[in-house]
Amino acid sequence: MKKQVHHVFFSPTGTTRAVIDGICRGTGLADGVVIDLTHDTGVSSSFGPEDLVVVGMPVYAGRLPKLALERFAAICGNDVRVAAVVVYGNRAYDDALLELCDCCSEQGFRVVGAAAFVGEHSFSSLEVPIAQGRPDKEDLVRAEAFGQHVAAQLQALDLAEIPGNRPYKDNPVFPGAAAESDPEHCIRCGQCVEVCPADAITMSAALPETNAEECLWCEACVRACPTQSRAVVLPKIREVAERLHQTCSERREPSCYFEDAQC
Ligand SMILES: Cc1cc2nc3c(=O)[nH]c(=O)nc-3n(C[C@H](O)[C@H](O)[C@H](O)COP(=O)(O)O)c2cc1C
Repeated sequence: MKKQVHHVFFSPTGTTRAVIDGICRGTGLADGVVIDLTHDTGVSSSFGPEDLVVVGMPVYAGRLPKLALERFAAICGNDVRVAAVVVYGNRAYDDALLELCDCCSEQGFRVVGAAAFVGEHSFSSLEVPIAQGRPDKEDLVRAEAFGQHVAAQLQALDLAEIPGNRPYKDNPVFPGAAAESDPEHCIRCGQCVEVCPADAITMSAALPETNAEECLWCEACVRACPTQSRAVVLPKIREVAERLHQTCSERREPSCYFEDAQC
């Protein structure tokens, strides 16, 4: 059977998905399954022994979103080759790439490549842009080149090359607050309910209600709202966004790791 490339990602605001699709395109392999962990738990798919899996997750506070890891945990690697990819908002990826490589290894995958790409920061807005428009054309050219290179890799990567520390940084603590809808503009279309990866939003008789304990701050609902009525950002998020806008404006480039080369 023809070798295939499988797309696996968690991507509330779409940048991780765009990078993973670019990498998969670059491999030149036939498309296999698409496992969208943003909304589904991974199923143990029947990957062929010569296939390649490309898995991507966004960086949250230098780590990976717990929900993404829980959903990914249901997939067994069976020594199938994997490229582990994180996408971060131009600040830093800290321990996240190492964490993803470790998870892939623990689940039985053979990690043959790893990379960190930049995506527009979830907290970015027109007024306070952070890595706006990324991944852009140049990033996608790099993603395709990474895909082409990783498709030829057979040997497991030495994880000592991957930046990051064990134990990893502490997971972020979300202080029990979430975006809310503005009653003046909300049209109760239910888009926010649909896109929430954590199923934290329910439609009540008046307005969508958010369970702040479950909210990831991923901003998927804010981006999806057709009337911008969820653009009411939390003061804490605005503070972080303004700081990042000031301190992380210098463009960072993708980093790619293989056993025998860098690209
Ligand atoms: C709660 C939270 C924490 C984040 N922490 C980081 C971080 O530590 N470093 C960074 O560069 N970007 C960080 N980001 C930005 C995301 O990693 C980045 O925007 C990514 O492209 C989002 O992926 P997505 O579009 O697939 O959702 C964070 C975003 C969120 C929502």
